[in-house]
Amino acid sequence: MSQDKLWGGRFTQPTDTFVEEFTASIDFDKRLYHQDIRGSVAHARMLGRQGIIPQEDVDKIVHGLVGILQQIEAGQFDFSISLEDIHMNIEARLSQKIGEAGKRLHTGRSRNDQVALDIRLYLRDEIVEVVAYLEMLIDSLLEQAEKNIEVVMPGFTHLQSAQPILFSHHMLAYVEMFKRDKARMEDCFKRVNVLPLGAGALAGTTFPIDREYVAEQLDFPTVTRNSLDSVSDRDFAIEFISASSILMMHLSRMSEELIIWSTSAFRFVDLSDGFCTGSSIMPQKKNPDVPELVRGKTGRVYGNLMALLTVMKALPLAYNKDMQEDKEPLFDTIDTVKGSLKIFADMIREMRVNVASMGRAAGQGFSTATDVADYLVRKGLPFRDAHEAVGKSVAYCVENEMELEELSLAEWQLFSPHFSDDIFAAITVQASVNARNVIGGTARSRVEDEIRRCREGK
Ligand code: ARG
Repeated sequence: MSQDKLWGGRFTQPTDTFVEEFTASIDFDKRLYHQDIRGSVAHARMLGRQGIIPQEDVDKIVHGLVGILQQIEAGQFDFSISLEDIHMNIEARLSQKIGEAGKRLHTGRSRNDQVALDIRLYLRDEIVEVVAYLEMLIDSLLEQAEKNIEVVMPGFTHLQSAQPILFSHHMLAYVEMFKRDKARMEDCFKRVNVLPLGAGALAGTTFPIDREYVAEQLDFPTVTRNSLDSVSDRDFAIEFISASSILMMHLSRMSEELIIWSTSAFRFVDLSDGFCTGSSIMPQKKNPDVPELVRGKTGRVYGNLMALLTVMKALPLAYNKDMQEDKEPLFDTIDTVKGSLKIFADMIREMRVNVASMGRAAGQGFSTATDVADYLVRKGLPFRDAHEAVGKSVAYCVENEMELEELSLAEWQLFSPHFSDDIFAAITVQASVNARNVIGGTARSRVEDEIRRCREGK
């Protein structure tokens, strides 16, 4: 019925019930209640301070809003679909409770700048949490790196044995990725952290409001500089989902590795039982559900990014109701990213590393062939010639079902006269790893340097 609507004045017919349901956002935007109330309190205080509404009304409003906040938190607030969204649910209840004064709250404000404010306030807090979870994950990766500092494993390209590396070095690769994800989140925070309130519906307001005072109350360092832009862009949310998509891509790659590493063929790691499930038919099974689900959930977050980009792509300025579709993808992204990070941090911390299988695999697949080539280069051969000679020695090993370590000096010398006794020491897995002594390389001392840097917050 048009009468109970806050905008009912120009309507003579009631809203169709299904239209009401279809257009309402209360089911999902009720999670903005805290931000909505916080924003309204700041707005009301500003209105009073500017003499736009009487101070006694401000007091009633603030008191009424605090009561509503308590009611919502106690689960005693009836959200109504016919009041469409969180903004009107709260405002209507306020007027019901305190009468006339409540009806003055919306002076100099529109739901358009109100919703933009609520989302920014909400996202600001959530980014802080995402960053905290990222720090937890980085910490558990560093812990694993420290605990297993000298464990060797095969490094892969094309998922084929490439060169031996330290497991700790592999963990640090992810640390670097998550550090960049953290930096992206912190950077996004700066653009979220701007006050849009005061833009009104689209053009500003005729009342002598003080936007800076509102910003100060709500801890925004700056205010937006164009009213149309303030109410019509959601680029800050897109930016968050985009940074989240990259973050999930990293988690998904790591998931994929953990899944491969826990197969019986690899047996590089054991995920703790708490992060796996069994099979209802195959008694031997211990399935890596958690990394599989995180890999799967990456798809949702990419989907959310596409959804919001597509919602926004052809909207004329300023606000359009299409934009109500921003919330579900945003909220879903926040929930998914936080959940994935939390579960990953715990899972990594509890993961057990199978030193023996990793070590065995590290030396297989001719993983030290590059070291042999580098050896010949040190003896004076051009790298391309060395590459050719070692290629032949690998072919010889393949034909004779041997590993490089098993070749005798006489056999080595079939491929180059430059080989002498010191070849054996040059191609152990340990020697191979420690020879990669460059900044960012896998040599133990370099890995220790990087762990130290990370621990110092660099
Ligand atoms: N529920 C709306 C949304 O989320 C609030 C803004 C409504 N503004 C409007 N002019 N209908 O976008």
